[in-house]
Amino acid sequence: MKSSRRPFYPWREAPEADFAVLGDPVEHSRSPKMHHAAYEELDLKFRYIAVQCPSDEFASALHRLSSLGYRGVNATVPHKESAARWAQSVEPFVRKTGVANTIDLKAERAINTDAPGFLATLAKETLPNKKALVLGAGGTTRALLPALVDAGFECTLWNRTREKAERLLTDLNLKLPVVSHPESADCGLVLNTTSAGLFAAKLPIKWSGAVEGAIAYDVAYGRELVFLNEAQKHGFQVRDGLNLLVEQGALAFEFWLDQPAPRMAMKRAVLEDL
Ligand code: ATR
Repeated sequence: MKSSRRPFYPWREAPEADFAVLGDPVEHSRSPKMHHAAYEELDLKFRYIAVQCPSDEFASALHRLSSLGYRGVNATVPHKESAARWAQSVEPFVRKTGVANTIDLKAERAINTDAPGFLATLAKETLPNKKALVLGAGGTTRALLPALVDAGFECTLWNRTREKAERLLTDLNLKLPVVSHPESADCGLVLNTTSAGLFAAKLPIKWSGAVEGAIAYDVAYGRELVFLNEAQKHGFQVRDGLNLLVEQGALAFEFWLDQPAPRMAMKRAVLEDL
């Protein structure tokens, strides 16, 4: 165990348990706390741990966890593409996007709960229109952009490295405008999937007065976010990634255990840990 605050195990030392989140780094993950809160709420005797695994050892790690009797795994950065490749069976969304975050080890089946989780959080909002500016072209965008397109949003994409945005669209077989100078005007939704917030970096957005009810959404959470502060100053309603974290976790829980996840308890556990 490496950290007293949020314990994790190198995959070779992972103990017997039922579920795990695999990542590198993984010590920041709130998933163990969140899933344990769900088990406690429903009086389930499962154990969910955080496991550190370098990107080239993902398959070996899954093999080990599987032989220890684990039922399911969440894959986080940098393993979401490996998870999609590893599975013998994937849902159509994973086949299309090449990213999965939830695995049933026994069935060797992988699904993506980030995309439906994200749409579930948006479904609670009343957006003024379906025009979205999406910022970023990394792993998170690979799931959330197609989710938005499937939900009927008219999306424009910006990324610091423009070629990466273009490559992503080619990969996803999407024909969408890529802009060099992102502008918020007319957008009902401005979605930040970049990791700029981790470095407190400001994105080069040309903000103009928000359309009434427009939302700026950052997938990050648990810290002061420059992007959301800027957006709020320009009249946007702001949302961070906390509800997305809870919803993707709840959908993973339901996929593995086939019963409704106690979302309130899961959210409380994350809030207590911030
Ligand atoms: P994730 O899996 O979380 O999406 P990722 O695949 O490493 O992470 O992608 C990180 C994204 O954040 C990329 O779009 C990256 O832009 P580049 O493609 O130009 O690297 C973006 N990003 C990271 N730091 C940034 C910053 N300071 N300003 C703007 N974009 C940033």
